[in-house]
Amino acid sequence: MIPYSTRFAEIYDEDWSGFASRKAPKVLDLFRNHHRSSDKAVVLDLCCGTGQMAEHFLEQGFLVTGIDQSQAMLDRALARCSPYVESGSANFLKANACDFSLDTSVDFCVSAYDALNHLPDQESLWRCFDAVFRALKPHGLFVFDLKTKQGMRGWNSISITEKPQWTLITRGTYDDRDTAHRRVTGFVRDDDGRFTRFEETMTERWFDPESVCQRLEGTGWREVRYALSADLTRPATGVPDGSRVYIVAERGARS
Ligand SMILES: C[S@@+](CC[C@H](N)C(=O)[O-])C[C@H]1O[C@@H](n2cnc3c(N)ncnc32)[C@H](O)[C@@H]1O
Repeated sequence: MIPYSTRFAEIYDEDWSGFASRKAPKVLDLFRNHHRSSDKAVVLDLCCGTGQMAEHFLEQGFLVTGIDQSQAMLDRALARCSPYVESGSANFLKANACDFSLDTSVDFCVSAYDALNHLPDQESLWRCFDAVFRALKPHGLFVFDLKTKQGMRGWNSISITEKPQWTLITRGTYDDRDTAHRRVTGFVRDDDGRFTRFEETMTERWFDPESVCQRLEGTGWREVRYALSADLTRPATGVPDGSRVYIVAERGARS
């Protein structure tokens, strides 16, 4: 089963999407800093989830394409951004981040909140980078985050969250090498007062940030750098402490 495809999408939308809302202004600063054209910039939000980041870009006048493989997540994004979808400023596509193509190239691509850690292996991550490369205009910017080992260890935990409309139980394990699993079980209250149960399992992979940067540098990307979480326009020296590392890369001019 594809993760995020159950009613967990509703809980994600309500309770887990704050990350995207908080990070969106930082990503926008980075893009604005880089955008030298007077045309409206086009952003690809890869693994867009329920569309919080996309909505922020749209409110700021950007055009947005969102891609996600979960229809349940896309449905939330479509509902959130419906005025922009209707006006033609936004579109959302169901596709695999490792294997997609766009009709029109974009100025920027962002993939946020551990989305790329969900790819099953390194080969898939490299295929994703190639797809983003093809989707971007020359000199277009790509920014994404990856979990550090410290961040992966955060999955070694059990939690129970209870809200009036739902209860969520998460149980995770990390092997301290490259793989973490999390079982998510939930109960969502229906209109008739009864609860619907769902269950799904997510797997995340740890990717070595140095290998990732080397791969990008060897495949036509330039100015590849780590960025400070608090200010993505500022380079970081080495992998910063914390649960995530941010990587920024500019697409080279070759096609
Ligand atoms: C943790 S959520 C992040 C969502 C969003 N970027 C945010 O910041 O809230 C991960 C998202 O990645 C999507 N995803 C995972 N693997 C994917 C793949 N191979 N292709 C497309 N989407 C994928 C999931 O469906 C989910 O919506």
